[in-house]
Amino acid sequence: MDPILEGLVTTADPDGRPHLAPMGPRVSPDWSRLLLRPFPTSQTYRNLKARGGGVLHVTDDVLLLAKAAVGAAEVPAWQSAEKVAGFVLTGACRYYEFVVRSLDESGERVRIEAEVVHAGTFREFFGFNRAKNAVLEAAILATRLHLLPAAEVAAEYAKLRVLVEKTGGPAEHEAFAFLEDHFQRHSGGSR
Ligand SMILES: Cc1cc2nc3c(=O)[nH]c(=O)nc-3n(C[C@H](O)[C@H](O)[C@H](O)COP(=O)(O)O)c2cc1C
Repeated sequence: MDPILEGLVTTADPDGRPHLAPMGPRVSPDWSRLLLRPFPTSQTYRNLKARGGGVLHVTDDVLLLAKAAVGAAEVPAWQSAEKVAGFVLTGACRYYEFVVRSLDESGERVRIEAEVVHAGTFREFFGFNRAKNAVLEAAILATRLHLLPAAEVAAEYAKLRVLVEKTGGPAEHEAFAFLEDHFQRHSGGSR
């Protein structure tokens, strides 16, 4: 099975505005094909179904990713995509414009096979960093708060915070504090 890339997908909302969501599609070794697995309840899924395409971004901007995960991101600088009716985030490292080739709604998560029709690079990826990875994990947990016991999430966050404190820079600290705050508000301060 192809590996998952934790990226940021932009799609066009019904009103034509950019929509951002972290998504983890499987990517083929040559990056020509993607397998997206959005929840049927997600806006990204509805946009992809309606518009037939979007843009996948490779980014190391975990602050943007954390905010987008809980629907709190302001749309950053973008330019129009070349081959799809979509939005390319110019602060990303790389991007892949894709068109939907097939859409299977029979399972709990939709399977969307897509073909990359255009790609580009803006800058180099920062590299491995445990704090960035910790924010990524915390962001995933933030999107599952309704499914997980608060005590479990609190214990995970306590572990992840150590990694952020040890290895993060200002953006990772801000991203983690933002997610902790989101969690606290969601769990009614019951940590
Ligand atoms: C790193 C990361 C990867 C994610 N991957 C997926 C995914 O593959 N499919 C999915 O439905 N949600 C995924 N999510 C959760 C969505 O980003 C989140 O539920 C989002 O709010 C839903 O998107 P929407 O704004 O399009 O409704 C992921 C979240 C993170 C932080």
